[in-house]
Amino acid sequence: MKLIGPFKQIVPLRHLPLRGKLEDEQLEVIENGGILVAEDGRIERVGAFSDLERLASDVERIEGDKVALPAYTDCHTHICFGGNRANDFAMRNAGKSYLEIAAAGGGIWSSVQHTREASEEELLALLLPRIASLVRLGITTIEIKSGYGLNKVQELKMLRVIASAKKHTKASLISTCLAAHMKPKDFEGSPSDYLDYVLREILPEVKAEGLSDRVDIFIEKSAFQPQESLLFLQKAKAMGFEVTVHADQFTPGSSRIAVEVGARSADHLEATVAEDIAFLASSETVAVALPGASLGLGEPFTPARKLLDAGGILAIASDWNPGSAPMGNLVTQASILATYEKLSTAEVLAGMTYRAVHALGLDDRGILDAGKKADFVVYDTDNFQNVLYQQGQLWPSMVYMDGCKG
Ligand code: NIG
Ligand code: FE
Repeated sequence: MKLIGPFKQIVPLRHLPLRGKLEDEQLEVIENGGILVAEDGRIERVGAFSDLERLASDVERIEGDKVALPAYTDCHTHICFGGNRANDFAMRNAGKSYLEIAAAGGGIWSSVQHTREASEEELLALLLPRIASLVRLGITTIEIKSGYGLNKVQELKMLRVIASAKKHTKASLISTCLAAHMKPKDFEGSPSDYLDYVLREILPEVKAEGLSDRVDIFIEKSAFQPQESLLFLQKAKAMGFEVTVHADQFTPGSSRIAVEVGARSADHLEATVAEDIAFLASSETVAVALPGASLGLGEPFTPARKLLDAGGILAIASDWNPGSAPMGNLVTQASILATYEKLSTAEVLAGMTYRAVHALGLDDRGILDAGKKADFVVYDTDNFQNVLYQQGQLWPSMVYMDGCKG
């Protein structure tokens, strides 16, 4: 067994509640701590370095003052894409409307066209550096959605690219089928006909090839309507998929559908109204704030404070995508969300770790404790508060996955 340490501080985030508000006083901070890792890459024990030394066969010594935290999980990204939407961003900032941007060749459809044009090899070559940049930030579990293919061949292509990316990284990649991102412009039929096509043609193949066990849908005026979406989600669930929803981004109401269908998570929620906050916060569905989309679009932040005060399970994810959230720095975004929404450090760290893990249905990571995956992030600092204080500018000096430096 290998002992890694001593760390000036380890903040293991263990023994904390899954839901509701957290105060920083609840955080366990182990001074001069060590992490004991078993051969299989799982944590054996976390505690005082001096107590663990006698149990270790090998010591990986950490020099200088360093802080260790559980590695982060980004539970909502769209990082498998071709092309670039810098022109959308510039036009939006210059005051152009959604319709004007679409008419100028922008919007989701433009990413669909660029992604369709890319070969699997090209798409993989675009995806891998994005994964690497998330890992450099300390994110070792990454959810990645399809949704820029929007027909059977192209959606499967995207999911196969995500599957092949797994062979090139030690990070855990969790893929989600977002064929229901919008009705593609070249589909003949109604949005609801398209959802039937996804259920009939795409999802059975996704299942047969083992490409994903999660399904997402964008419920919004410009995409799919509440009732057809509810039916779609129920059918996807009946096929054995976990479901998640892009909900209440601009129009309220769809987080209710996510809860009614028992979705793992309802993501966005920038427009969620008071009674829906209460409904969501008392459910098992994780509320996922995407501050990167608020910053990319100049829209309000998800009401994270209210969701937590109402007892909700709040995760924070980047939504990294070429359109609404081009930044891709979850730590910066979460730290800005904390400033505007008045979140404690504990709430932000929980939202990027064990609560985000729960949104993906995993239970083997996200805290530093016996039996968990030894994925952790190390900062060259003597105080864990500096991570959010420096708003993403304090980069990890090391990122460990399964007890080994990544
Ligand atoms: O999560 N809201 C819908 N989908 C993405 C945006 C994707 C895009 O603009 O390409 C989102 O913000
Ligand atoms: Fe998204």
